[in-house]
Amino acid sequence: MNITVQGITFSYRSTPTLKAISTQLNQSEVLGMVGPNGSGKTTLLKCINKILEPKQGKILLGEQALNKMSRLQVAKQIGYVPQSTAGNNEATTVFEMVLMGRRPHVTWQSSEKDEEKVWQALKTLSVEHLAMRNFYELSGGEQQRVLVARSLAQEAKVLLLDEPTSNLDIRHQLEVMSLTRKLVLKEKLAAAVAIHDLNLAARYCDKIVMMKEGKIFAAGDSAQVLTAENIGLAYRVEVEISYCRNSPYIIPIAPIY
Ligand SMILES: Nc1ncnc2c1ncn2[C@@H]1O[C@H](COP(=O)(O)OP(=O)(O)OP(=O)(O)O)[C@@H](O)[C@H]1O
Ligand SMILES: [Mg+2]
Repeated sequence: MNITVQGITFSYRSTPTLKAISTQLNQSEVLGMVGPNGSGKTTLLKCINKILEPKQGKILLGEQALNKMSRLQVAKQIGYVPQSTAGNNEATTVFEMVLMGRRPHVTWQSSEKDEEKVWQALKTLSVEHLAMRNFYELSGGEQQRVLVARSLAQEAKVLLLDEPTSNLDIRHQLEVMSLTRKLVLKEKLAAAVAIHDLNLAARYCDKIVMMKEGKIFAAGDSAQVLTAENIGLAYRVEVEISYCRNSPYIIPIAPIY
């Protein structure tokens, strides 16, 4: 399933946050979304997930226009891991949280098959031992892994991950990214990952879009996008680029004033 984003514009207030964005999420590819804080990555992911409605332009899920689809239809196809989960006073177990990923499939009661999918997903993300804990009492990184498990249990065709590695230790960063990549290849999914770690993006993303002030500033493979010049202009940071296993490896040197 491919997703095509055609010239979308979105505004929260009077000034547009996304300005005529066009991009493509291809089946069997991981698209990395990078760019400075506030450049519009989360807003773009929310438009693709139909949480927000673009003011102009069009998003196609396969051949279908997203604005013609119901929330339920979208939820069956797209798995979304948000950037942060606001605290909640209600106790929800990890198991229930991941089972919610099955909601679009569940009619009125979860079946054995749903529960089996949940256990499988918990196991894949190595969070089985947390199944009966309250989700909201977990550490940030544990929560992120549970949310990735939820998107797995959902069996979505498209995965949208908003900074899934921001709270993870180095081992779990590699695990979540390599798992995403393997899954995308095996199940022929399309995935978009907003990510601040340029080196993880370089290593695990097939294509990268670099955003700046609501526009796509550069797009292509990691060697085309993650150049010292682009990073200097987008982030105002001087970097040196080395190479590690055929991927660019970015060493930040100093802010540019
Ligand atoms: N709910 C909202 N209401 C008003 N403005 C918002 C809202 N959400 C985001 N914005 C603004 O829209 C712009 C883009 O925000 P967005 O969250 O998409 O950026 P981002 O690239 O994901 O940033 P980060 O790297 O910090 O996660 C920012 O200027 C932000 O302040
Ligand atoms: Mg964001």
